[in-house]
Amino acid sequence: MKKIAIFASGRGSNFIAIYKKTITGYIPAEISLVVSNNPTCGAIDFARNNAIPTFIFNKTKYPDTNIQNVMLAQILLKSEIDLICLAGYMKMIPENIVVKYKNRILNIHPSLLPDFGGKGFYGMKVHEAVIQSNAIESGVTVHFVDDKYDHGPIIIQEKVKVTADDTANVLANKVLILEHYVYPKVVKAFCEERIIFENNKPKIEVILEN
Ligand code: GRF
Repeated sequence: MKKIAIFASGRGSNFIAIYKKTITGYIPAEISLVVSNNPTCGAIDFARNNAIPTFIFNKTKYPDTNIQNVMLAQILLKSEIDLICLAGYMKMIPENIVVKYKNRILNIHPSLLPDFGGKGFYGMKVHEAVIQSNAIESGVTVHFVDDKYDHGPIIIQEKVKVTADDTANVLANKVLILEHYVYPKVVKAFCEERIIFENNKPKIEVILEN
């Protein structure tokens, strides 16, 4: 069984979608830790209510950034974490963690990267920008994390149509439904060691049942 750490700053719906799939056994892993900069967010509430260990990681708790980063590395090591899943995590991942967990940190982004990604594109801002651009499609991207926002190697993208009467809210809901479907599938594939690299690009290997 793999051990997952979720990093989340907000309501945590993607975290909950992944958690539910670990409980049913669809994802052969357990969520061993939830890390957040925000002690009062929905993700932390859910973790506490479900007896999942939490780690609050912010400047109030650790004014010294170096100590903060070392503490995070230590708790990930102690919790024997195999995979980190960013699920609405609003902070940059410290470099020591990005290096140590190379190709073991996943992020989900609610657009078709590289479009509408990077600094400033978060939450509703992504969907508002998509609507403003008159794009005819949007979607979700799951990628490995590197040292830039929304930048690392893309594992999968799934699309949704944007129709003329879609508001940013409507689009956000459509994309979120897709996120809750796609992210657990990618986490499952990682835990089953089915994410492989071909020509330096990650892809999900599908095992056909006979
Ligand atoms: C999602 O739209 C995700 O793609 C983005 O942040 C949002 C988090 O939502 N990275 P939730 O907290 O998982 O509900």
